[in-house]
Amino acid sequence: MNKLVVSLLLTMGVAGAANAAEPIKGDATAGQAKTAVCGACHNPDGNSLAPNFPKLAGQGQRYLEKQLHDIKSGKRTVLEMTGMLASFNDQDLADIAAYFSSQKGSVGAADPKLVERGRALFNGGDLDKGMPACTGCHSPNGAGIALAGFPHLSGQHSQYVSKQLTDFREGNRTNDGDAMTMRTIAGKLSNHDIEALASYIQGLH
Ligand code: HEC
Ligand code: HEC
Repeated sequence: MNKLVVSLLLTMGVAGAANAAEPIKGDATAGQAKTAVCGACHNPDGNSLAPNFPKLAGQGQRYLEKQLHDIKSGKRTVLEMTGMLASFNDQDLADIAAYFSSQKGSVGAADPKLVERGRALFNGGDLDKGMPACTGCHSPNGAGIALAGFPHLSGQHSQYVSKQLTDFREGNRTNDGDAMTMRTIAGKLSNHDIEALASYIQGLH
């Protein structure tokens, strides 16, 4: 791991710990009982079938819990989920995160025409543009770093990944923290780069 990533990890870790009120322990079994309404879009086990609905299965618990809080508070806009989290308290959200995190994520396939470009960017970044490799935070196999809240990406639907990278780039998704990590990185990506990365990620495992 290079120095940049280590210092980012430390900054984000310390900031994260300072922000979190009290860590709540999620209960996966209790969480499952609260996810009946989610299955229609994300599938009951979290391996959504539609390419615009993200897979939640196998995603890091800390990341999931943060997204649920951000979606509930409106810090991250997900129109399809309007009002759905309103009746859940912090314990419910921790339980739901624990449930989807405990499920096994499925993998997709990459487009052979895009895979080389996607792999090069994911593993090597783009030195000319000062863009770091994705592997530093999302790891070479896309598993992410669960304890740091760096999301698991491998096997995620390319259409969803593409939309997130575009949203970060255009400033339509802004919940990546004061460091603006993903907005800065996505700002250096062309449409073609995004397409290649998203396809590579869908087939990564
Ligand atoms: C009507 C469809 C629909 C339903 C029902 C739904 N969601 Fe979602 N959910 C979405 C969409 C669409 C997105 C992604 C939006 C975007 O493109 O940013 C999303 C995103 C998410 C994310 C962020 C995933 C990530 O990788 O960042 C989480 C977590 C989530 N949903 C959890 C839930 C839970 C828990 C429920 C049930 C209480 C639920 N959703 C119900 C459509 C739905
Ligand atoms: C310095 C660490 C870091 C680097 C490098 C990094 N990311 Fe991220 N990424 C994050 C963090 C942290 C988040 C979660 C932000 C949040 O909490 O909403 C994230 C979120 C994402 C998401 C949204 C996941 C979801 O389920 O919605 C995608 C897609 C993504 N990154 C792709 C990439 C790609 C592609 C690269 C390389 C071009 C990259 N990231 C480089 C830290 C990083």
